[in-house]
Amino acid sequence: METTYVMIKPDGVQRGLVSEILGRFERKGLKLVGLKSMVPGEDVARAHYDVHKERPFFPGLIKFITSGPVVCMAWEGVDAIAVARKLIGATNGRQAEPGTIRGDFGMDMGFNMIHGSDAPETAAFELGLWFPEGLMSWDNTMGAWVYE
Ligand code: RTP
Ligand code: MG
Repeated sequence: METTYVMIKPDGVQRGLVSEILGRFERKGLKLVGLKSMVPGEDVARAHYDVHKERPFFPGLIKFITSGPVVCMAWEGVDAIAVARKLIGATNGRQAEPGTIRGDFGMDMGFNMIHGSDAPETAAFELGLWFPEGLMSWDNTMGAWVYE
């Protein structure tokens, strides 16, 4: 079992895609273990994208992420990190495969609606950063019909 950090970015919220995006993870069979919404402060945004701090797009990325509400989610499942990245699709919506979130709704590199952790170490870091209060522990009866 893995848990991954997924976040609908301000463009996804502004475009009214929250239920559409969240529903894809839910219908896939992942288990929701964290959910909240906030307008992120600059500190959390900078910490989240620290790996990109030297890149030319970093200031614009921080301005964008802090511009409005994001939806923070934690999803649990077998290989949840890779499964979520597959549902999300390639970074640039113009290259992302149809059927993926970015492939179905995106036309841009920066405005790509959603973030998903890319490895176990980044997932652990991001979950701790965005959910310092911890995640939910619950029995998901649906799970019995998702994994044989
Ligand atoms: P994310 O971290 O948001 O899930 O996206 P990702 O793994 O697919 O892409 P990553 O390389 O981690 O880039 C993080 C975010 O920075 C913006 N970006 N802009 N203008 C550019 O060249 C550029 N490159 C990256 C995107 O919003 C990307 O999601
Ligand atoms: Mg990334």
